[in-house]
Amino acid sequence: MVHKIALFNHKGGVSKTTTTFNLGWMLASKGKRVILVDTDPQCNLTGIALKEETEDDEARIENIYNTHSNIKTGLAPAFESQPRAIEAVDCVPIEGQEGLFLLPGHVGFAEYEVTLGIAQELSGSIQTLKNLPGAISDLLEKTANQFNADYILIDMSPSLGAINQNLLMTSDFFLVPTTADFFSVMAIDSLSRILSKWCAWARMASANPILKEAAYPFPEFTLKFLGTIVQNYRIIRGKETAAFQTWIEKIEDTVTHKLVPVLEQNNLLLPKQVYTEQSMNGSCTLTKISNFNSLIALSQQHSTPVYALTTEQLGQTGVVLKANQKKQKEFKTTFSDLADKIIALSSSYAVSA
Ligand SMILES: Nc1ncnc2c1ncn2[C@@H]1O[C@H](COP(=O)(O)OP(=O)(O)OP(=O)(O)O)[C@@H](O)[C@H]1O
Ligand SMILES: [Mg+2]
Repeated sequence: MVHKIALFNHKGGVSKTTTTFNLGWMLASKGKRVILVDTDPQCNLTGIALKEETEDDEARIENIYNTHSNIKTGLAPAFESQPRAIEAVDCVPIEGQEGLFLLPGHVGFAEYEVTLGIAQELSGSIQTLKNLPGAISDLLEKTANQFNADYILIDMSPSLGAINQNLLMTSDFFLVPTTADFFSVMAIDSLSRILSKWCAWARMASANPILKEAAYPFPEFTLKFLGTIVQNYRIIRGKETAAFQTWIEKIEDTVTHKLVPVLEQNNLLLPKQVYTEQSMNGSCTLTKISNFNSLIALSQQHSTPVYALTTEQLGQTGVVLKANQKKQKEFKTTFSDLADKIIALSSSYAVSA
C-alpha cells in the first residue's frame, strides 16, 4: 500500500521542494519505491529533478513533456471533460537513484484552481462537477499502482487554494517544513486556523454519497500529522542571524500551543507513543536541518542531493573538499534518520489502523 505524504506550508521558501527531493532520494536509497509529485505551478521540483541548466537541457525537458504526461495532462480527462478516463501518469525515472520517479508539474495546473474550488464548495450538488474532488486522488492512486510505489511525496505550492486543500485532505500523512524566523511563526498560527475548516470540509466530502459514487470517488479522510522540519538557513542582511535558537524555540512553542491542539481536536495526530518512540517531543519536531551553504548550488547544478554529490561533482580539492565532505556526512546522517523516522511513523499507523 502506498503512503501519500504531503509537504505543506503556505509560507514560501521554507524548503518544501528541497526537502521533497533530498528525502525522496534517501527513501529510495533505502530500497523504497518513491514518486515525487510536483503540484506547484512554479515547477521548481521538476526543474531540479530533470536538471534544468543549459539550453540543451531545455530541449531535453521539452521532449520529456512531449512524451511523458504530467500533473495537468493527467487530470485533463476530469477537468476538461474529455471522453476518456484518468490514467496513470508516465513518470520520469530520476537519474542517479534507482526506484525514484518524478510526476512532473505543469505551469498551467493553476488553471484548474477555480473550477476545483467551485466543485469543492458545492460538494456534488452540480452533476458535472461531482467528479472533480476525487480526481487528483484517483490519478495518484493509479500512478502509484502502475509504479508499484511505496511512497508518494507531494511538493505543494505556497498557497491556501482549492488545489492544496484537496491535496492535503486526500493525503495519508503530512509534514510541515518551516524555517526559524518570525514569518514562519505567523504561518503556523494561520495554518492552525485553516486546518479546522479544511478538516470539516473533508469529513463532509468523504461522507457525501454523490462524491462517493462519482467516477472518481472522494476517498476516506485518514490524514495524520508526521511532524515539522525546522531549517535554519535563512540569511538576514548577508549574515546568518545569531538569533536562530530563539526562533527555533518560538516555532516549537507555537507548534506545541497552537498547532498541536488543533491537530488533536481534528484527530490528525498519531497515538502519542508513536512519536515518543521516535524521540519526538511535544512540538513534533522530526529534525532540524542547518544551512547547506555552498553545497546547495552544486546540488541543484547536478540534480543530486547535497549528501550524495560525488567528489567529481564537488569539483574541489584540499581543505575545502575535506570540509564539504564532512558536512555531507552530517547531512547524510540527518536525512537518513529523517527517512527512518518517516518509515517508522507511517508503517506504525498502517499496522495499527
Ligand atoms: N537547508 C538549506 N540550506 C541552504 N539553502 C536552502 C536549504 N533548504 C532550501 N534552501 C534554498 O532556499 C530556497 C527555498 O527553498 P525551496 O525552493 O526548497 O523552498 P519552498 O518551500 O519549496 O519554496 P516555495 O514556497 O517557493 O515552493 C532555495 O533557493 C533553496 O535552494
Ligand atoms: Mg517549492
